[in-house]
Amino acid sequence: MTAVELGLPVVRGNPDTTERPDSPLLVDRFGRTATDLRVSLTDRCNLRCTYCMPAEGLDWLPKPDLLDDAELGRLIRIAVTRLGVTDVRFTGGEPLLRPGLDDVIAATAALTPRPRVSMTTNGLTLAKRAAGLVAAGLDRVNVSLDTLDPKRFLRLTRRDRLADVFAGLEAAREAGLSPVKVNTVLMRGVNEDEAVPLLRHCLEHGYQLRFIEQMPLDPQHGWDRADMVTAEEILAALRAEFSLTPEPGDRGGAPAERWLVDGGPAVVGVIASVTRPFCAACDRTRLTADGQVRNCLFSQSETDLRALLRGGASDEEIADRWRGNAWVKAAGHGINSAGFSQPDRPMSAIGG
Ligand code: 5AD
Ligand code: SF4
Repeated sequence: MTAVELGLPVVRGNPDTTERPDSPLLVDRFGRTATDLRVSLTDRCNLRCTYCMPAEGLDWLPKPDLLDDAELGRLIRIAVTRLGVTDVRFTGGEPLLRPGLDDVIAATAALTPRPRVSMTTNGLTLAKRAAGLVAAGLDRVNVSLDTLDPKRFLRLTRRDRLADVFAGLEAAREAGLSPVKVNTVLMRGVNEDEAVPLLRHCLEHGYQLRFIEQMPLDPQHGWDRADMVTAEEILAALRAEFSLTPEPGDRGGAPAERWLVDGGPAVVGVIASVTRPFCAACDRTRLTADGQVRNCLFSQSETDLRALLRGGASDEEIADRWRGNAWVKAAGHGINSAGFSQPDRPMSAIGG
C-alpha cells in the first residue's frame, strides 16, 4: 500500500511522469476520478464567523471578475456533459446572496444526465427561499450551525441571527429537502462544550449533524492545531451520552465517518479532515466565483477558465484544460507535513 491508500499525509507536488490516459473524465495520477463539482457563487457573506472573516469583511472579488450566469451555466454544462460530473454543490461565501441563484439551479437541474444538486449555506435567508429553491431543482442542503446559544452565535458570527438559522432549517425540511444536514465546527474555548446539545437538537428536529475538524483556511492564518477539537475528542464527548456504532456499509468517497446513534436509525457524522485525511478517496473539483478551477481546497495553483471562456475557446478546449487541472492534483493536503503552507485564498473564496 502506498501512503495515499493508507490516508497518510503526503508531501505535495510529487513529481510524476505517468502519462494521462485518454479519458474524457477528470482522472488524476493517483487513480481518483473527480465527479463532485463544488461551485462558489460569491465570496461575500452576511455573517462574519470569526474563524472565516475579519469583522470588516475581506477584499471582495470585483464584479467584472465574477462569472456571469451564462458563463457559469456553460462551465457547469461542460463539467456534467463532457467531464462526468454527477454532483453539483453550490457554496460561497454565502450562495443565497447570489442574484439569480434559482435560475442557476434550474439550469443545472435541466442538464442531461441530471446531476444531483445541493447547496451549503449559513441558512440566514433560507426560510423565505427554501420552497423556491426546491421548485428550481435543489435536492439537498447543508446548513452551517456552530452553536445553539444566541449570545454565543452573536460572538461567533458577529450577527444576532440565530433565530433566522433555526427558521431556515425548519423551512428546508418543510420544503422537502431530505436529509437536512447541519455542519458544525467545534473550537476550543468557544463552543467545544456543545457537541452533545447540538446532537440532541438535531435528533429532536430530524436533522443530520456532521462535525468538521477545523482546517487551516482562515484569512488571518491563525489556525492552531492545539485549538482544533479533534474527531477523537468529539466522539468521546458524544459517547458519554449516546451509544455510537459504525454505520454499516462502505462510505465510498464520502468524507464523513458515520455513526448510528443509540442503535439508529439516526446517524451522526464526523469529518476528520485533519487527523484522518480522506484525500485518497477525494472525488472533488472546485470552481471559484471568478472562474478558476482548483483540484483541492489546499491547491497552490489554479487553472483560469474565465480567460478561456472570454477568449472564445470551444467547449472541448475548456474541458481539456479542466482535465489537465485534475490530472496534476496532489496526493494529499499535506496539513500534517512539515512543509505545509496554507493556500492564498481563504475558504470563503474557494467554497466549502
Ligand atoms: N475548517 C473547517 N470547516 C470550515 N468551514 C469554514 N471554515 C472552515 C475551516 N477552516 C465550514 C463552515 C461551513 C462550511 C462552508 O465550511 O462552518 O459549514
Ligand atoms: Fe459566512 Fe460561512 Fe464564512 Fe461564516 S463560515 S462567515 S457563514 S462564509
